[in-house]
Order: sequence, then C-alpha cells, then structure tokens
Amino acid sequence: MNTMLVTGAAGQLGSAVVARAGELALPVVAAVSSDLDITDERAVERAVGAREPGDVLVNCAAYTAVDAAETDAGRAHAVNALGPGLLARACARAGVRLIHVSTDYVFAGDAHEPYDLDAPTAPRTVYGRTKLDGEIAVHRALPSAHVVRTAWVHSGTGTDFVATMRRLEGTRESVDVVTDQVGSPTYAPDLAAGLVELATTPVDAPILHATNAGVASWFDLARAVFEGIGADPERVHPCTSEQFVRPAPRPAYSVLSPRAWEAAGLTPLRPWREALADALAAG
Ligand SMILES: NC(=O)c1ccc[n+]([C@@H]2O[C@H](COP(=O)([O-])OP(=O)(O)OC[C@H]3O[C@@H](n4cnc5c(N)ncnc54)[C@H](OP(=O)(O)O)[C@@H]3O)[C@@H](O)[C@H]2O)c1
Repeated sequence: MNTMLVTGAAGQLGSAVVARAGELALPVVAAVSSDLDITDERAVERAVGAREPGDVLVNCAAYTAVDAAETDAGRAHAVNALGPGLLARACARAGVRLIHVSTDYVFAGDAHEPYDLDAPTAPRTVYGRTKLDGEIAVHRALPSAHVVRTAWVHSGTGTDFVATMRRLEGTRESVDVVTDQVGSPTYAPDLAAGLVELATTPVDAPILHATNAGVASWFDLARAVFEGIGADPERVHPCTSEQFVRPAPRPAYSVLSPRAWEAAGLTPLRPWREALADALAAG
C-alpha cells in the first residue's frame, strides 16, 4: 500500500483520517500545521517531493473560521485557495494522488433538493468563495484530483456543535437553536473512513459529495444530543436565523447528494443519528 500524507493532521477531520489509517495499519504521515504550512511553497515542494509516485495526499488543512474569514479574507484565501493550488502542483510533479476536502459553502444554500455535482456554485461568504477558489486551483493543476465536499462535520469533542450542546445541557436550563438551517450532520470518523476508502480505491471522480445520510436542522441535532445523553429534549427551544445574526450568513440548505459517491462504488455513509450515538458514546 502506498503512503498517505495527511495535511492539517491536528484538525477535527485530519486527526480522524490519521486514526482511521492507523486502525487499518496503512502507512501514514501526519503533517500538522507546524510541520507543513501549506501556504509555504518550498515546504510544500519538499514534503510532497519526498513522497513516492502513487502515494496519496489527503488535504484536511483549511481556514475554517467562517465568521473570522469575513474580515480576514487574505489569510483565508491563502490557506483555502493558494495552499491547495500549491499542493496540487507539487502532487502533479511528484505523481502523488490528491484528495482535497471542500464544503457545502460553495453553494448558495437556497436549494430545496440535495445539491448534486451539476448544481451551480454560488458562495455567499468569504469562506465559501475561498474554498471554491481552492477547488478550481486544485483541478487546474491536477485534473485527476478528487475534491470531496462535505458539511456539518462534528466529532463530539472540543468546541464543535455536538460538544457545545452537551456542555450547555449541563450549564443552562434551556437553549435556543435555529430550525431554519438544514443539513446532514457528519461524524468526522465516518467521513475519514470514506476518505481512506477513496484513497485506497482507484476511481475517476473529480468531485464527490460525502456526508452522513439523512437531513436535520440544527434544532433537530440539538434535540438529538439532549435525547442521546438522557436529558429532556424539550429544553431545546426553536428559534430562527434572524434571531441569531452572525457576521457570515449561514446557508439555509446544506444537503449534498451522495449520488456520485455511490456511483463510484464507495460505501455510503450511515444515517446521522446512528453516527451521533457513537459520537456521544466516545465523547
Ligand atoms: N467542520 C465542518 O463543519 C466542515 C464542513 C464542511 C467542510 N469542512 C472542510 O473539512 C476540512 C477539515 O475541516 P475541520 O473541521 O477538520 O477543520 P479544523 O478542525 O479547523 O482543522 C483545520 C486544520 O487546518 C490546519 N491549518 C490551518 N492553516 C494551515 C496551514 N496554512 N497549513 C497547514 N495546516 C493549516 C489547522 O491547524 P492550526 O489549528 O494549527 O492552524 C487545523 O489543524 C476543511 O477543508 C473544511 O473546509 C468542514
């Protein structure tokens, strides 16, 4: 088996990819941001150039602070667009396969049916625009690269939504959560297993969508967290996005179609509620 190089390896998804490779005893090199800054062209050339042809780079590095990006567009563009372009160029030179992770934020978020690959992109935030620029830069340098869009990733740890709801359950009588944004909550280890499967499967698929199956609002997800830890879900109260204004507008509809993923013969990700149960058990 060829070696997998994971960039952004300390992040929520990167660490899950490294863990999954470890579970399968696959050779993996974990590069955290202090090992490899993907915006540093020389460092990228060195790190990717040291790999063998046929190795796979899984890029999980990104500027993910959606609100901060609105006033930090230069840095967000460097990490989400320029960096992935540098990685793709280096991969093209070294004969390394590239899997690059992207997001539902490349879409406008105003659809009423799951976004498929032919849906027009129309990002409404700096984060989304920089991620779309990253997709374009990757394919310009390496047309065979896989761009995998995902959404609503959680691991039940740190400051993610699931962990936050769990913490608030212990400290507040009630929480208000929006009902008018829907997506597919996606457990990082499930997505990581999918990315590792893709890394070890020869498929011709420039863009893929991968999330846990099913649809929920943030309100549904919060209630499911309360239920899952044995708390009364009625303590989660509905509210609307208008009552919860953020610097970057959040997409109302973030559901991604798994059609291309399944057509490529990759294992469908399980329903989000099953995955949430594992996240809560692990957290
Ligand atoms: N989280 C979600 O809900 C979600 C939804 C859709 C798509 N995605 C995509 O999924 C991917 C993984 O996201 P995540 O949730 O795992 O994010 P995360 O936890 O914020 O991890 C991102 C990682 O990237 C690293 N990084 C930042 N700048 C870097 C640079 N210049 N060079 C190298 N590494 C750098 C960060 O390291 P430092 O902390 O040391 O800076 C961090 O470890 C991203 O492409 C993101 O756009 C995430």
